[in-house]
Amino acid sequence: MKPILALFLLIASAAQAQQQRFLTALLQRMTLEEKIGQLNLLTSDMDVTGPFMKENYKQDILSGACGAIFNAYTPQYTRMLQDMAMKTRLKIPLLFGYDVIHGHKTIFPIPLGEACTWDMELMEKTARIAAEEASADGLHWTYSPMVDIARDPRWGRVAEGVGEDTWFGEQVAKAKVRGYQGTDLSAPNTVLACVKHFALYGAIEAGRDYNTVDMSRRQMYQFYLPPYKAAVRAGAATVMTSFNEVDGIPATGNHWLLTDLLRKEWGFKGFVVTDYTSINEMIPHGIVKNEYEAAELALKAGVDMDMQGSVYATQLKKLVEDKKVPVKLIDDAVMRILEAKYKLGLFQDPYRYCDTQRAAKVIMNGEFLQAARETAQKSIVLLKNEGQLLPLKSNQKIALIGPLGDAQRDMIGNWSAAGDFKKAVTLLQGLKAAGVNVSYAQGSDISADAQLMGKLGLQPGDADKLLQEALETARAADVVVLALGESQGMSGEAASRSDIGIPDAQKRLMEAVLQTGKPLVLALFNGRPMTLEWENAHIPAILETWFGGSQAGNAIADVLLGKFNPSGKLTMTFPRNTGQIPIYYNRKNTGRPMDANNKYTSKYLDVPNDPLFPFGFGLSYTTFAYGPVSLSARSMAMNGTLRATVTVSNTGNFDGYETVQLYLRDVTASVNRPLQELRGFKKIFLRKGERREVSFSISVDDLKFYDRDMQYVAEPGEFRVQIGPNSRDVQEVAFDLKP
Ligand code: BGC
Repeated sequence: MKPILALFLLIASAAQAQQQRFLTALLQRMTLEEKIGQLNLLTSDMDVTGPFMKENYKQDILSGACGAIFNAYTPQYTRMLQDMAMKTRLKIPLLFGYDVIHGHKTIFPIPLGEACTWDMELMEKTARIAAEEASADGLHWTYSPMVDIARDPRWGRVAEGVGEDTWFGEQVAKAKVRGYQGTDLSAPNTVLACVKHFALYGAIEAGRDYNTVDMSRRQMYQFYLPPYKAAVRAGAATVMTSFNEVDGIPATGNHWLLTDLLRKEWGFKGFVVTDYTSINEMIPHGIVKNEYEAAELALKAGVDMDMQGSVYATQLKKLVEDKKVPVKLIDDAVMRILEAKYKLGLFQDPYRYCDTQRAAKVIMNGEFLQAARETAQKSIVLLKNEGQLLPLKSNQKIALIGPLGDAQRDMIGNWSAAGDFKKAVTLLQGLKAAGVNVSYAQGSDISADAQLMGKLGLQPGDADKLLQEALETARAADVVVLALGESQGMSGEAASRSDIGIPDAQKRLMEAVLQTGKPLVLALFNGRPMTLEWENAHIPAILETWFGGSQAGNAIADVLLGKFNPSGKLTMTFPRNTGQIPIYYNRKNTGRPMDANNKYTSKYLDVPNDPLFPFGFGLSYTTFAYGPVSLSARSMAMNGTLRATVTVSNTGNFDGYETVQLYLRDVTASVNRPLQELRGFKKIFLRKGERREVSFSISVDDLKFYDRDMQYVAEPGEFRVQIGPNSRDVQEVAFDLKP
């Protein structure tokens, strides 16, 4: 061993021993009540993210009955609460958690949008910036990354994740954990990550939030669990349980999930927190009769911290007295929470994240805003561009029409938590800042459904008047940019939709504006894949902009005006209609694969099987040509590797990014394997006229899966390599894996 490494290990183990001594001594001094207090996480009244709050949470802090607070931030506010904790007998510092989901104050695109950048370094960087800001704003802990794989866009929470692909999800999970936690949690600019929602929340039935999940172990291991595991292996300090059941037992009371799998199999060392009141929710789940039983089940399953349910706070003492729960279990949970506090340096200085000067300097600084603009640019996906309508010419008179054209609140999307929407740039503002000739008309409400408008907190306007204004504005312009889609409240938590099209009122607007005969560009704002068959049939250019964050409007203007050549690629399939859902690219063949000429094959009568826009899809203002795919050999040994190579040329008129994607298919295996699975990608930048050879190394690890006996192995036989600009337009070459 190198002397320097030996020295490092020595220091690390001495520090570890010191931590252990300190915490063990502390634990010995704690009463049972104080221990239980450490397991109690309550929301402050600054912001509330769930069904109810506890009014007297401050009393609980003062009495040592609450060890962690969420929904409280700013150096002043957290200092005020930390002062209370410092008045308790043992002065154990509070831990402050919050949903810092896609940025804290500088808001980046919603995660589903950010994923479309396919830029792992950038995704790590935005997590780093979020951690810089959050930690400067009094926070220690973010409830992110959300790594739930989802194949159902009716579920509003697809906005918070990175889409449908497992392997891609693993890469982002790791990048996010690194970004939030850095290499040293004691540094004042890092925060604890929290992987959620463990587990399988993305697979809820019918896309209806909080619904049940039913899944085979094989499906879990193969497709849904790997991103959580990747985050845990990357060192995520905490894990949040999900609301749903897993194999019939709610995640929050599921010993197999939280102990056998998470701790024993994956080696997780941090602490487990519930989701909002999910211990209590095991009663309506029909698993326990009352909170007394719920607390017992959760603790024994492996839940350390109770978010907002106060079930541990009210039940654990009695459970110990009744000898239902050994104190040892409580001690273990307390230790894991104290360890996190210790690692953050809170025992050294409970106020180390409460520095107003740092907050003023760090938050929303120019560099961060620039990163937000870059991320938003790269998240935008060009879905259609007939006749090269885009980019717009700078001398064109633009009519910007639609309820999302100047909607500041919507720009930062859902789960923008501490984000200040008043600092967000709308598309109208972005176009004006770019100095183009633009006039704006709202055109319609988000929806004609008064009930929905009410739920979204939106005031309806005069539909006829709005439409007339829009038509006049359109007629006076050379080109119309329609800013349509969903209001931010239509995705995110508790925002499932049974119809994921553009709402009625906006459809009418689109149809009317189409009649003016002006060239139309549709700029979409939304938190999920939408059904766009009509739009795709009638509108020449479509730009998916998601909810782009603080700099959304500038970034979209950059793309519309050709200052940035769009490069985003979808990480979730866009269906043709809602009836096709669930629809995802890594599907399996059936015994009767679809054959248009054979009635008795797997298909619909009224819609094709394929999606409107496939996974990995996204256009550019330039064009890329792919040469033939070549393999370094036609067979591979178990311990060998193979190179797949393709030459990509920029054949159009703009410089631009292309994301070259590698998919693999195992043709025959002991269990049915998908027709394609993403196993690599390379994002390259090519000047116009430039060409580059792109190659991928394939090893046996890329070919592994859970076999008939649930062993993670590669089986010899034929494989196909597929390379292309998206999951649909691939070239396929075969090779054999030799025994
Ligand atoms: C959500 C979590 C979130 C928590 C705290 C819950 O309702 O499911 O994702 O972290 O609230 O705000």
